[in-house]
Amino acid sequence: MLQSDTVPPVAPPPGMTTTEAPFIEQAQRDHRLFIEQPYALYSEQNHEAWRRLFARMVPRWERYANPWFLKGMQSLCLDADRVPRLEDVNKFLSPLTGFQAKPVSGYIPSFIFFDCLRNRQFPTTVTIRRADKLDYLPEPDIFHDIAGHVPMHTDKAFAETLVRFGECAHTAAELVGGIKDEHEQVRRLTSIIQAMARFFWFTVEFGLMRSGPAPGLAGLRAYGSGLLSSYGELEHSLESPAVQRFPIQLEWAINQSFEINHYQPLLFIVDSFDHLFGLVDELERWLRDGKLDNVAPGEPAVNEADLASFLHAANA
Ligand SMILES: [Fe+2]
Repeated sequence: MLQSDTVPPVAPPPGMTTTEAPFIEQAQRDHRLFIEQPYALYSEQNHEAWRRLFARMVPRWERYANPWFLKGMQSLCLDADRVPRLEDVNKFLSPLTGFQAKPVSGYIPSFIFFDCLRNRQFPTTVTIRRADKLDYLPEPDIFHDIAGHVPMHTDKAFAETLVRFGECAHTAAELVGGIKDEHEQVRRLTSIIQAMARFFWFTVEFGLMRSGPAPGLAGLRAYGSGLLSSYGELEHSLESPAVQRFPIQLEWAINQSFEINHYQPLLFIVDSFDHLFGLVDELERWLRDGKLDNVAPGEPAVNEADLASFLHAANA
């Protein structure tokens, strides 16, 4: 028997998947939230996952995405075959709206996340799902962040809405900073974060918008990034009779629980990005008036890191 027959096959390099990425794991152990994108670490399987994800989405984007997303996709000149370099993406993105994709090692506590938006930075995951598991993904990956979110950031009206949302987080920190009773401070802050997270979920992540006459789709298109990065749910959100689609009402969205592990049964519709911007303005007014202090309990849970991020800003 030849020597080579007894040598076990060499495992391919792990690259950077959402479940295995030694570089990212080390950054997390070092508590580094913001990182460089270690581009050389992507494996061929990682690029193959991107290529397959991108290729199958193109016809669905053409059918279901809002026109500003399609325009943004063209402006970004994303490579259909390789995981994008964030610095290349930013070369096209920044001149349009000032936004930049900023590489992160994983979950970003909510105040820091919103503060990044205020500064026109979008915390961007650099790992990618495994090529043999393209469909189900509980956490964001670079396909969700770059192909789902970033094309929307090329649109001026949408970009201003994100900045405005980031400003709301500052208002919230300022308001809770003035509450002396610690227990009451945490109680109110929990409610406010929940309200903001729900609003963000039902708009930026899963929003639908009116988009002129379009037979068969009731004139609706997706602008939410959770929809725009999901092959199955994008079609489901606009075609399935099982989905409830209602004009957005702020009081409903901020009190509505959601679950992240299945297709959304309830989606809200905005008329335009100007409409969405107006809603964020209204959200801030409600925040100042105390209307976010007692929203309905339920999902999403607010974790310690989210609370701590706001309290740190409040005490700064
Ligand atoms: Fe997202």
